[in-house]
Amino acid sequence: MTKYITKKSGKYWPSKAMKEIAWVNDKKIYKQANKNPVKFWSELAKKGIMWEELWDEKKTYIEKLPYFWWFKGAKLNFCVNALDRHLGRSEKPALIWVPEPIKEKPTILTYKELYDKVNKCANLLKKLGVKKGDAVSIYLPLIPEAAIAMLACTRIGAIHSVVFSAFAPDALKARIQDCKAKVLITADGYYRRGKKENLLKKAKKALRKSGIKKVLVVNRLSKNKTYFGKFLSFNKELEKVDLYCKPERMNSEDPMFILYTSGTTGKPKGIVHDTGGYAVQAYYTAKWNFNLHDQDIMWCTADIGWITGHTYAIYGPLLNGTTSLIYEGTPDFPKQDRWWKIIDKYKVSVFYTAPTAIRMFMKFGNKYVNKHKLKSLKILGTVGEPIDIDAWNWYFKKIGKSRCPIIDTWWQTETGGTLINVLPGIGPFVPTIAGLSFPGTRHAIVDKKGKKTNKGFLTQVSPFAPGMLHGVWKNHKKYVETYWKKFKTKYDTSDGAILKSGLIRVTGRTDDVMKVAGHRLATAELENTINDHNLVNESAVVPIPDKIKGETPIAFVVLEKGKPSEKLEKSLKSHVDKHLGPTSRPSKIFFVHALPKTRSGKIMRRILKNILTNEELKGLMTLVNPKCVEDIQRLIKTDEIFKNIEDKNANNLFKKD
Ligand code: WT7
Repeated sequence: MTKYITKKSGKYWPSKAMKEIAWVNDKKIYKQANKNPVKFWSELAKKGIMWEELWDEKKTYIEKLPYFWWFKGAKLNFCVNALDRHLGRSEKPALIWVPEPIKEKPTILTYKELYDKVNKCANLLKKLGVKKGDAVSIYLPLIPEAAIAMLACTRIGAIHSVVFSAFAPDALKARIQDCKAKVLITADGYYRRGKKENLLKKAKKALRKSGIKKVLVVNRLSKNKTYFGKFLSFNKELEKVDLYCKPERMNSEDPMFILYTSGTTGKPKGIVHDTGGYAVQAYYTAKWNFNLHDQDIMWCTADIGWITGHTYAIYGPLLNGTTSLIYEGTPDFPKQDRWWKIIDKYKVSVFYTAPTAIRMFMKFGNKYVNKHKLKSLKILGTVGEPIDIDAWNWYFKKIGKSRCPIIDTWWQTETGGTLINVLPGIGPFVPTIAGLSFPGTRHAIVDKKGKKTNKGFLTQVSPFAPGMLHGVWKNHKKYVETYWKKFKTKYDTSDGAILKSGLIRVTGRTDDVMKVAGHRLATAELENTINDHNLVNESAVVPIPDKIKGETPIAFVVLEKGKPSEKLEKSLKSHVDKHLGPTSRPSKIFFVHALPKTRSGKIMRRILKNILTNEELKGLMTLVNPKCVEDIQRLIKTDEIFKNIEDKNANNLFKKD
C-alpha cells in the first residue's frame, strides 16, 4: 500500500509518492509568495477562477483599514465556477449523499444533474421574488438540497444565510430577522440516530412575526406531503420552473453569504463573505491542502451549518471539480464503525474531521477501526480546535494506518478558508502543530502591545487573505471592536499561539468563547439564555476541559425565586435546549448564593474556572464578596455528579502550554 509519509530525523515528511502527486511540493513557494503576496494571489486568481471581466491590476488589493477589497470591480458568477465549467465532464459525480438509514439508497448527483437542479432552484427563488442582494435563510439538514439551495442563491446573486439545523427556533428567528431574509428553505425533517426529527415544527415556531414571506419545504421524511399558505413544497415547485437560469453577473466584492457565529457578547454576529476573494481562497486551499485531483473523493464531515461545511463539504471540492461526499447522520449509527464503512465503501481519499470526533471514536475502542483497511485514504485533515497528542497519534495510526499525513488546519468562520497549516507535499507533519501560514498570507504572534514575540496573541497582518470577512452584517461597530480594536493594523484572531522552530502552534481562544465539540459558543450567549429563565437572577458560565468535547460549559446560577433541586437543574438544561439548542447545554449547573464579583460588579469567571479545575486561586483580594468562593468550593467538592464530569486527565491534555 502506498505510503504518503516518511520519517526523517524524528519528524514526519511527505514521501516520494506524496511529493509526486502534490500540487505544491517545493517550499520555495513560501518565499516567493511572501515577496509580493498581492501579485501572488493575482496570478493564482487568474488561473483558478473564471472571471467574466478581470480587475484593473492596480485594484488587485485595496486596503483602507478596517476594510480591504480583493479584485475590486472584477465580474464573475460563483455558481458558474462551481458547476458550469465542469460540464465538459458532466457525468462525473459532484455529490455523493449517504442517508442515515442503512436501507435507504445513497443519492449520487453528477455535475450535470446538480447543475440542472441548481438552475431550477434558482428560477424558483426568482419566481418567489428573490432578487440579487436579497437574503435567503437556509435551515436544512445535511441533504443534497442544502447544496442545491446554496448554489442556487449564488447563481442569482442572493445572499444565503445557512442556520445549523440543530439550532433552536429562537436562534433561527434572530438570524432571519437580522438579515431580513425574504424566503426560508427548510425540510420536514431528517434522521438522527434512527429517529425522525421534526424540523418543520421548529421552523414554524421561528417564523412567527419573522417577516418571511415564503417557505420552501423539502420533503425528506414524507415524499408526498402537500403544504398550504406561505408553505410550498420544494420538490413540487421545482417541477414547474424552467431548466435554465442565466447566472447573475456579480462584482467580486459583492456579498455572497452571511454566516452567524458567536462573539463575546450575547448576540451572534453575521459574518459577511464576498464573492471573488472567497472563491479564490476556497479553490486554492481545497486544492493544495487536500491535493485534490480528478479521481479524488473528499469527505468533510462538517455540517453545512458551519463554515467548514460551506468551504470544504460544498464549495472547495466543487470549485475543483472533485466529488464531495456528505453524510446525513450520526457518526456512530447504527454501529460505531459507520464512518469507516463509508470510507471503504465509497473509496474516500481525503477525510477531514474534528478532534472531538476523533476522541469519541478513540473512546469506542480499536475493534471498530481495526476491521477496516481504509486503503483509499491519502490525506487526513483536522479542524475546529487544538488537537491533543493522543488524538493525533490515534488518528495517524488507526485511521491513516501510519501512511497518511495529517493536515492540522487552523482557521475561523471569519477567515472563510484555511490559513495556517502545512501542505501535504511539503510538511513537516508535527502532532499538535498547525504549522505555516498558507502561501501569500502572513501572521504574527504578538504581546499585548502588538510587539512580536514567540508566545502570545495570534494576529494576521497585511495584506489580509482574499477569503477574509467583509465586515459584520450591518454592524460596523461590532466589526471594529471585535477584530481591530486591540492591534489596530493587525487582525485580532482571539487565539493564543506559540512559535516553535518556525512553526505555529495554536493554543486556543483567549476570549470568552468556548469550543464545545468543535462548536463555537460564547459564555455570554449561554448566560443570557439562562438569565431569561423566570426563576433565575443571574448566572456565570465557564468551560472546563472535557476529554471528548474539548471543552464543556458549567453554569453557576443565582436564583431569583424557587429552591435548588435536581428537577430545576433539568428544567434549566431543557430551557437551554429549547432556546439555543442542545449543543449548548451545560454539563452541570451549580446553584449558588452569589457569584464572585469585583468592586465594579464584574463577574470573575476566571476564579470560578480555577475552582473547577483545582488550580491556585489568585486575585481574591479584588473581590467584594470573597466569602462566596468558599461556599462554591464546598459545593463543588461534595457534588457527586460533577466528580464524574471533571476529568483530571483531560485537564492535562488541554493545558494551554
Ligand atoms: C476557532 C474558530 C473554521 C473551522 C471551524 C471552526 C479554533 C479552529 C483550529 C486548529 C487550534 C483551532 C480557534 C479558532 N480552531 N481550528 N486547527 N487548531 N484551534 O470555526 O467556529 O469559527 O472557530 O476554532 O480557536 O479561533 P469557528
